[in-house]
Amino acid sequence: MTELDPVAATLHDVHQQLAALDDGELANYIPPLLLADPSRFGLAVCSPDGRLWSAGDHAEPFTIQSISKVFAFALALADRGLDAVLERVGCEPSGESFNAISLEAETGRPDNPMINAGAIVTCSLVAGDSAEERFGRILSLMGACAGRELTVDEGVFAAELETADMNRALGYLMRSAGSLTADVDETLWVYLRQCAVLVTADDLAVMAATLAGGGVNPVTGVRTMSSEVARHVLTVMATCGMYDYSGEWMLRVGSPAKSGVAGGVITASPATFGLGLYSPLLDAQGNSLRSVRACELLAERFSWHALAVPGETLPPVQLPRGR
Ligand code: DON
Repeated sequence: MTELDPVAATLHDVHQQLAALDDGELANYIPPLLLADPSRFGLAVCSPDGRLWSAGDHAEPFTIQSISKVFAFALALADRGLDAVLERVGCEPSGESFNAISLEAETGRPDNPMINAGAIVTCSLVAGDSAEERFGRILSLMGACAGRELTVDEGVFAAELETADMNRALGYLMRSAGSLTADVDETLWVYLRQCAVLVTADDLAVMAATLAGGGVNPVTGVRTMSSEVARHVLTVMATCGMYDYSGEWMLRVGSPAKSGVAGGVITASPATFGLGLYSPLLDAQGNSLRSVRACELLAERFSWHALAVPGETLPPVQLPRGR
């Protein structure tokens, strides 16, 4: 057997260590997500020069879900500018779950673009004459960041539309408060369709590496957004990307990240790497159980904490830890 290079060997090692971890739950709010194979676990890392290392089920397709919020936010920022976006959606962690009614008392402004309420407003800020055009632009951006054309899982999309009462309620609340001015159904159509886009852990690694590369896809060389937009997006991911686990995530892992309810996670370190993970069992905060633990282990192995002194070696992660 040929010897794996150190990055591939580390990914395989982390995959092996965590594959048996199974004290999480599949997302159950729509039937298609309950059909996921709970044993699936894939990891991929992409370097600033576009090299990709993968392990496990890295080519398994799944829906991007809330990770799409990152790219809709990037487009809203590119289309409207930071100040106009911040007038409508905040940038403070909510400390609450992803579908919480986290709206500012006076204005109805949602706390941040990484929770559902904020993402619904963000979608409404993406420029376009119709819902189709707005969605098409979000899909194109996600595809440019992944380096390939992405498609929608129509079964997941249909199920999302059927069970969107909470998101619809959030939409109407925000419309009555004035923070959402667009049509609720049209905006939800865009938001739920972007959540149903299919990706793999390999795609997510390249998408994360594109953010880490200041908006330039390191595989295709295509600029997908300005470096300023990429920096703003990574900043909000650092404070709000992991829902009510965002603070502990920054302590234990220390890099901007975003998770999705189908089990995907992206994390990135500017000019250093982009990482994509998939494992559908979720922990109590709704984040992918194995992916969170994998990032803790990898952050320690590669000493990547954003706030560590260069050269500092981080203490080993203890396994297993019950949550
Ligand atoms: O808004 C929803 O219900 C979903 N389509 C997306 C939620 C999601 O991924 C939340 N997070 N982890």
